[in-house]
Amino acid sequence: MPEARLQKVLADAGVASRRGAEALIVAGRVTVDGAPAHLGERVDPRAARILVDGRPLRAPAGHVYLALNKPFGVTSTVRDRHATRTVVDLVPPAVLARAGRVYPVGRLDRDSEGLLLLTNDGDWSQRVAHPRHELAREYAVQVAVPLDGGRIAALRQGIALDEGVARVDDIRPATAAETAKLAASLAPPPSPEGWYRVTIAQGWRRQLRRMFAAVGVPVHRLVRVRIGSLWLAGLAPGETRELEPGEIRRLGGPSAGGTPGATAPRATARAGLIVSLDGPASSGKSTVGAAAAVRLGYRFCDTGLLYRALTWVALHRRTALDDGDALAALVPEVALAPDDHGGLTRVTADGVDVTDAVHDTGVDRHVSQVAQYPAVRAALQPVQRAIAASGRIIMAGRDIGTAILPDADLKLYLDVSVEERASRRIAQRALDPRGASAVAVLADLRRRDALDSQRAVGPLRVPAGAVIVRSDGRSFDQTVRSVVARVRAAERAGAGRDG
Ligand code: DC
Repeated sequence: MPEARLQKVLADAGVASRRGAEALIVAGRVTVDGAPAHLGERVDPRAARILVDGRPLRAPAGHVYLALNKPFGVTSTVRDRHATRTVVDLVPPAVLARAGRVYPVGRLDRDSEGLLLLTNDGDWSQRVAHPRHELAREYAVQVAVPLDGGRIAALRQGIALDEGVARVDDIRPATAAETAKLAASLAPPPSPEGWYRVTIAQGWRRQLRRMFAAVGVPVHRLVRVRIGSLWLAGLAPGETRELEPGEIRRLGGPSAGGTPGATAPRATARAGLIVSLDGPASSGKSTVGAAAAVRLGYRFCDTGLLYRALTWVALHRRTALDDGDALAALVPEVALAPDDHGGLTRVTADGVDVTDAVHDTGVDRHVSQVAQYPAVRAALQPVQRAIAASGRIIMAGRDIGTAILPDADLKLYLDVSVEERASRRIAQRALDPRGASAVAVLADLRRRDALDSQRAVGPLRVPAGAVIVRSDGRSFDQTVRSVVARVRAAERAGAGRDG
């Protein structure tokens, strides 16, 4: 393998962004063949022994980590008297010879398709499958009859199964682009109708099939498209590929020295977390998040600005506000830019800085409508993920921990009663608390809460595994300090787990 710059090797291995890797090198946390590393050093990643905080970069020799696109009809247990074919039969013989044996991490029913992990590393497998890890799994689910709002709501609220209440973290109709892309991964190719995208953190036996059956809609086809940060795309049916070191780390941590059940090893490796901060309208997410980020030395991103900027462009160009696809097509026009404190609070649309305009009443009035279209949300998803990818960020919104960053290192939910939010607004605007305008403020917040939590796609919900930060009766500074303390604690927990 050719030599490459050390910071690139570290970044490729998923340790940190290139800049983060440079910081690790400068901080003296990286050694190459026993000597402290220096910036710009060139290494052969296959030959050199590279340690970060004393731990090797590469998986120990002999361990094998595979992603498989499991076809319909193949059993995911290793040995089954009744099975004609098991997933192990799909592993290339050369890989199997090197590994000795491999077994699936978790399971995927015989009649389900898609992403399945295989390994011979027992610790890693345990960490990936451990419920405490709550790695989100996303499925493409095809049903014969479209789901109505009532059924979607029932699935979201939870279905009582023998094991307990089964919940989906997110459910929405698949976009046409997603379904078209999925076709390359399925045999036989799917019909395009009736596809939904469902994300769950629980993983009970045949959970989605039983949940859908409970609302009277049998599942026709079920394809796992994502486990944590790993996507199925690019694998043909029956095909396997070996995971990259960075992928192995992100899913379950490095093999050496980890504790079973440990989560988010990348957090420490990156020396900064990805933090999601969700909460209802006017809960103070953006002010609290921005202030906490400054104290932590993190970046801050208020994703509401993206929806607002998009709405501004649509109004400016007179795009029909009831045409989700036309609105989604405007997404490339909007971007966030850093302010003087590293916060991504400046927003440009059509190349023009519109930061001051995105809180206008026109935008205010229409933004909820724009934000409800699946096509808009799907188009903004990669934009938000790309912003978060380099880490050390607090990202605020309504669906960040549930849909945009389901693998965030730390998920926070800012909880404030609607009455407290209304009284803060009323005080801010110096309104008479008993006057008609004050009543209207409360009614408007209730209306926005209802819109945000009832929309079909990316509704506001407390993400699985989120820490709830309550701010009723607490000062702004107390709430900021509580967020900072949570992030610091998670940073320390990450460091402890890794060591
Ligand atoms: O937080 P805000 O009021 O600036 O958000 C503006 C709108 O965008 C609001 O209608 C909710 C929506 N939004 C969303 O749907 N998802 C996000 N992640 C952020 C905002």
